[in-house]
Amino acid sequence: MTATPASPPEQPSTDADIQKRVDELVAQMTTAEKAGQLTQYFYFPAGAGPDASPGVLDPGAGNLALAPAGQVEEALGRGAAGSLLFVTDPAEANRLQRLAVDGHRLGIPALFGFDVIHGLRTIFPVPIAMAASWDPAIIERVQAVAAREARAVGIHWAFAPMVDIARDPRWGRIIEGAGEDPYLGAAVAAAQVRGFQGPALGAPEHIIAGPKHLAGYGAALGGRDYDEVNLSDSELWNVYLPPFAAAVAAGAGNVMTAYMDLNGIPATGNKWLITDVLRTAWGFKGFVVSDAQAVRDLRTHGFAADPTEAGARALRAGVDLEMAVGDPAYAHLPEAMEKGLIDEQELDTAVRRILEVKLRLGLFDQPYVDEDHARQVLDDPSHRQTARVAAERSAVLLRNEGAVLPLAAANLRSIAVIGSLADSRRDTLGPWVFDHDLTETVTVLAGITAKVGDSVEVTYAPGVRPAQRVFASMFDTLFPADAREDPEGFDDNAELQRAVDLAARSDVAVVVVGEWQNMIGENASRSSLELPGRQQQLLEAVVETGTPVVLLVMNGRPLDLRWAAQHVPAILDIWYPGTQGGAAVANLLFGEAAPGGKLPFSWPRTAGQVPMIYTHTLSHDPAKQGRRYWDEESTPLFPFGHGLSYADFAYSQPQLDRASITASESVTVSVDVTNTGQRAADEVVQLYIHQRHGTASRPVRELKGFEQISLAPGETQTVHLTLGAAELRYWNAARGDWVLDETTFDIWVGGSSVAELGTSFILTQ
Ligand code: NOJ
Repeated sequence: MTATPASPPEQPSTDADIQKRVDELVAQMTTAEKAGQLTQYFYFPAGAGPDASPGVLDPGAGNLALAPAGQVEEALGRGAAGSLLFVTDPAEANRLQRLAVDGHRLGIPALFGFDVIHGLRTIFPVPIAMAASWDPAIIERVQAVAAREARAVGIHWAFAPMVDIARDPRWGRIIEGAGEDPYLGAAVAAAQVRGFQGPALGAPEHIIAGPKHLAGYGAALGGRDYDEVNLSDSELWNVYLPPFAAAVAAGAGNVMTAYMDLNGIPATGNKWLITDVLRTAWGFKGFVVSDAQAVRDLRTHGFAADPTEAGARALRAGVDLEMAVGDPAYAHLPEAMEKGLIDEQELDTAVRRILEVKLRLGLFDQPYVDEDHARQVLDDPSHRQTARVAAERSAVLLRNEGAVLPLAAANLRSIAVIGSLADSRRDTLGPWVFDHDLTETVTVLAGITAKVGDSVEVTYAPGVRPAQRVFASMFDTLFPADAREDPEGFDDNAELQRAVDLAARSDVAVVVVGEWQNMIGENASRSSLELPGRQQQLLEAVVETGTPVVLLVMNGRPLDLRWAAQHVPAILDIWYPGTQGGAAVANLLFGEAAPGGKLPFSWPRTAGQVPMIYTHTLSHDPAKQGRRYWDEESTPLFPFGHGLSYADFAYSQPQLDRASITASESVTVSVDVTNTGQRAADEVVQLYIHQRHGTASRPVRELKGFEQISLAPGETQTVHLTLGAAELRYWNAARGDWVLDETTFDIWVGGSSVAELGTSFILTQ
């Protein structure tokens, strides 16, 4: 193909127009230009990223050399890069887009992707926290706001939601997903896709959603990030794949592959996963991107001999776009074609998908963004309001003995706020934020101080210094401003004593414990779940004073709270609550908002128990299910779905509209829920099933329906939840197919996975 000048492109509007325009473009492109469209580069402006941290993402790994900004710009300017990631400044986005459009013979604009995980400028609670809201409406709203901010600055696509099921909290990325359960995970995944994308791909103020990482990434051996995953057929289909299927059904425009081997085959070269399951079985029509460097990694896995073969194998498996850290494997695609490792049709199929999405987003028509408009969008106060509501709705009240919470400000003269996380803006935001505004972030200390005004004396002591990782985080290397230095001259023992003294002379002590934000997320797995540093010692010393203690946990995974669950009357899980976190926490502490979140995972007692799931099957001697270890209970500290309220809720006996159904029918479960408390509050009504017998062992309980309701004191609401084939079928590994057994189903309805009120019905063929 020879290079010929093209006429200025026009924006097509219908599907047929888009296909026609794609055909015209593909017909004019050289093989090298096609490879360029399939290549995405990290772009860090000079002074950040590789320039600031000598060209490597992880100093320990050494092989992750990021391409310097100049090299990326050069590639962009000659059509050798079709997409960039990490550009968040609208002026920069415009400048780089101009390079792409002007530099390309055919005027093809670049696609900008970014990790918009829980907000861009306005930071929302971390994803596991949002899942704890069990509220698809707020989850959708939050991601719509994130999309609005991202689109305004020139980002077209989020590398989110992460829909990986996580059952081993040692894995740091549990924070990015919706926890252990496929049903909740599917609902949360679909809500996020709707939020990011809006009514259709290309909708104004929305961006493409990219569910990741296909598939099974959360089951890393020992919870060690990037390590291999071995999953049975049954676990894959029944547990790990449903959230992906739900995200695809919700219309996700992109899917990202995973780093690790799945059952011995690297996920990024796995044709069965990417083509047979994703495209053929689920009908996915969008484009697939590799995880960063994952195509080149095929060589590391021993799945390809060199970058040319790696590129060819990924493309043939169905990876359309390579996310390249430095030197792209897809730059070798022309060579792969010459060698016959791929053919032109395979190359064109991928190129067509990339061009199609650029056309659908309207980028040929308007590749640039309005910088003034971007500033207005980022400053929109309603976004901060949504962040506060989201943080209120995601908090989980784990324990509240003697109704210590809510606090009555009128009865208090003094509050001691203790713990260095209470006063850390950066940690309040959590990991996976880059463009945040620290100055407007409200810490727990600031939130409480603002709420009580002059009427209550608020004192503060960090108590213990921030704990440090043994091995540095790659994010701290890339973004040194986020790295935490040991405070100079910090005297541990004296500070701990000062904290205890403050608590002793206060009416109440609010203690904040947890993990610092760089201890959780990607590349942040750990071997224990204990509170890092001397926090446990601090907590015990404060409790010892006899002053009532409210414990706030800032976390993205369950931590070892065995001692606290016995000795601290009130424990509120606030996660990493985001920009408005402290304001939300203050509202929760003083009863202006009531916690209604529920745990999206079973909270283990200790790391030795993991994985700890509520959906285990029944086996020999089930009466001793809780005594499987001789040294510790084999039950969770807090069960899946648990979360208390400032109100009390009474459930009626669940009623069914029929006692028996056939495979094509459904049964409706109805239950009356009454707020018997004194305050308005939210409750998540949860429906669990158990299949008594059939052609496989089925979980002792499985979530198959839920609804979040708000009730005034004394109010009763009837909730109806429906069960049909979609909820009752399961993947039977022996048959290699979905089955519906003739059987009896037990059901339970209540406020957690240990709900007691239940009934049963029969399924006949
Ligand atoms: C690697 C992570 O696994 C992925 O989730 C992320 O989107 C990319 N890096 C880009 O930052």
